[in-house]
Amino acid sequence: LQLDASNVTRRPIPDTLFGIFFEEINHAGAGGLWAELVSNRGFEAGGQNIPSNIWPWSIIGDESSVYVVTDRSSCFERNKIALKMEVLCDSIGSSNTCPSGGVGVYNPGYWGMNIEEGKKYNVVFFVRSTGDIDLSVSFTSSNGSLTLASENIKALASEVSNWTRRELILEANGTDNGARLQFTTTKKGLIWFDQVSAIPMDTYKGHGFRNDLIQMMIDLKPRFLRFPGGCFVEGDWLGNAFRWKETVGAWEERPGHYGDVWKYWTDDGLGHFEFFQLAEDIGAAPVWVFNNGISHNDQVETQNVMPFVQEALDGIEFARGDANSTWGSVRAAMGHPEPFELKYVAVGNEDCGMPYYRGNYLEFYDAIKKTYPDIKIISNCDASSQPLDHPADYFDYHIYTLASDLYVRSHDFDNTPRNGPKAFVSEYAVNKTDANTGNLLAALGEAAFLLGLEKNSDVVGMVSYAPLFVNTNDRRWIPDAIVFNSSHLYGTPSYWVQQFFTESSGATLLNSTLMGNSSIVKASAISFQTNGKDYIQIKAVNIGEKSIYLDVAVTRSIAKFYLFKKKVLTSTNVMDENSFSNPEMIVPQESLMEMTEEDDLMFVLPPHSLSSFDLK
Ligand code: AHR
Repeated sequence: LQLDASNVTRRPIPDTLFGIFFEEINHAGAGGLWAELVSNRGFEAGGQNIPSNIWPWSIIGDESSVYVVTDRSSCFERNKIALKMEVLCDSIGSSNTCPSGGVGVYNPGYWGMNIEEGKKYNVVFFVRSTGDIDLSVSFTSSNGSLTLASENIKALASEVSNWTRRELILEANGTDNGARLQFTTTKKGLIWFDQVSAIPMDTYKGHGFRNDLIQMMIDLKPRFLRFPGGCFVEGDWLGNAFRWKETVGAWEERPGHYGDVWKYWTDDGLGHFEFFQLAEDIGAAPVWVFNNGISHNDQVETQNVMPFVQEALDGIEFARGDANSTWGSVRAAMGHPEPFELKYVAVGNEDCGMPYYRGNYLEFYDAIKKTYPDIKIISNCDASSQPLDHPADYFDYHIYTLASDLYVRSHDFDNTPRNGPKAFVSEYAVNKTDANTGNLLAALGEAAFLLGLEKNSDVVGMVSYAPLFVNTNDRRWIPDAIVFNSSHLYGTPSYWVQQFFTESSGATLLNSTLMGNSSIVKASAISFQTNGKDYIQIKAVNIGEKSIYLDVAVTRSIAKFYLFKKKVLTSTNVMDENSFSNPEMIVPQESLMEMTEEDDLMFVLPPHSLSSFDLK
């Protein structure tokens, strides 16, 4: 590797180069990053009609002791469904005595709640009754046999004849990661429940994000966060698309919606506000993708698209407007009086081929630029090999393919016009049989691709892998970067590859040329500063089956370099994957090394590996 360390050929890498794409797919948010434990908390999963779908709520007791049905009696206008429970049995002495544990309903959360000994959980619910109530609110093991935490709620009929909000803190005295929340009673009567929430008290910064999952995001040092999708933004039908106004304000008043592309209900606790909060919390610039009047199966003609344009403008005002503006005041009321720093928006997702895309796009572009000239607008149309026929600051580029193909696509931007919009490679991954559920082969294909993007970072401005998360209980899309269940997680090799690029954003690209004719190695070099010290970092991927010697010749530099840190990602078999039973089979191995003045910069690239060498 011929490496030119002079100032002449070095080039700054954009500050924003590596970031994260978060989509509500695979229960990434609901049942994932968003720490709400209750699934279908307002009983609305069947929509606004009754009988509604109360799954995964289930009944404790049989038909002789309890009768459960949904009705439309909720006090919340946008989500009218409530759960009505008629208790037919009574406490000891009655001719119809309740079973000893009582009767009621339980919610198992998203394939079991992770309840941990010593931890506290905030439980909120709305209740109404025609008589006195005597309820047990408990976390129990999955079959209810073991109680992990419990509180008794008693109230007179006069106190609960109208809907009342109840809040309590449950502290667990045992651990079970497949637990459930239940309401039980042995008191005959009629009780209604609505909007039930249970959230651990120790979420990230108290903002509702699951600590272990958000830490995986933070560790990637992401410079931007693209959200909330993906196809999730479009919907198979517009009626099921993510529409931000339905997701802000008090959580109990949000209607929730069925994401018809990834086929699950979300209560939308993770809404427009929370996405901006997430971006701020992880130190990333928000990139908001909004619906542009187009879904997979229906679309709004350009002449009718203005309501969608207004919705986008309002969504921007929600983020950026001052606390006195119409929508900025909603944000302020939610606890964030200061505006969020929104500088990037994407007009739709993968819609370029749709008949009304260009017409609609221009309406959005003109309206947004008029009010917010500094906002960078991202088009769905690919300009990697030909100029766009419309104005844009970035063009979106998605690629899912085989490892060998992604490897050669590291050159995709070599010939992209340098005077047009910059590329936002917002979704890339090796998939299909090459990747299985996330193996080393996929990761190495992606590593080679990223080295090419780093080299082309004069025209590639932003890059993110997709999808980020998968709840192992609902794998809608494989592979993914982070696999989790209610209590555990691991990074796939694709996740760990991204950690090799955490120093790149805002660094300096050094001109480097691989000599020789090896088609199985790719490399790049950057320089960066940490704690006031200068480093050169060389990254190289070897997709071959044999070790390769990489001889680094630093030209036009009078400095002597010393190896400081070496990092290698490899495994014995290129098809190897991490798993819950072996989560760290393939993770970067780091070593600190010192070289003597006499040593050459000669490094070994193991078979099937990605390596980085930091030089001081
Ligand atoms: O990342 C999964 C999906 O792939 C995204 O929702 C979509 O944009 C793409 O087709």
